[in-house]
Amino acid sequence: MRYILFLILPMILFSSSSFITPLEYASQLYKNPRGIGCGECHGEYGEGMVIAEYMHKNEKKTFSAPAINTIGFEEFYKVLNKRNKGMPRYFLTNGEIKALYLYLHQNDKKKEK
Ligand code: HEC
Repeated sequence: MRYILFLILPMILFSSSSFITPLEYASQLYKNPRGIGCGECHGEYGEGMVIAEYMHKNEKKTFSAPAINTIGFEEFYKVLNKRNKGMPRYFLTNGEIKALYLYLHQNDKKKEK
């Protein structure tokens, strides 16, 4: 009996909380990549948002970030590997880009049903 406990106890201790699911990882990365969080400009779910409004030559202008939860993976990947006006460059790995895409599309299947 004692031997069994020796085997099981570490399994219980180490299996709890020290691992995060791929979606938890993706969510953390979206909020805090190496640099400013994507959501600061693109909105919490990538729905896009107005970052600032300002006046230029007596005209009201807006600076906004587009929705990024509606584009396909290929486009998403391409954009993150080039320079974009008004957006910081991140130099993300392929795995990180996939995780971010997962975060933005986590509810897609639920919506379809
Ligand atoms: C400082 C604000 C800011 C932050 C932070 C930011 N972006 Fe952007 N992003 C923009 C702006 C502005 C554009 C539009 C660029 C353009 O018009 O060329 C853009 C464009 C994009 C596009 C292209 C959308 C399209 O339809 O063409 C994608 C994809 C994207 N961002 C993803 C991300 C991801 C992922 C992150 C986090 C790792 C991020 N952005 C962080 C401001 C930001």
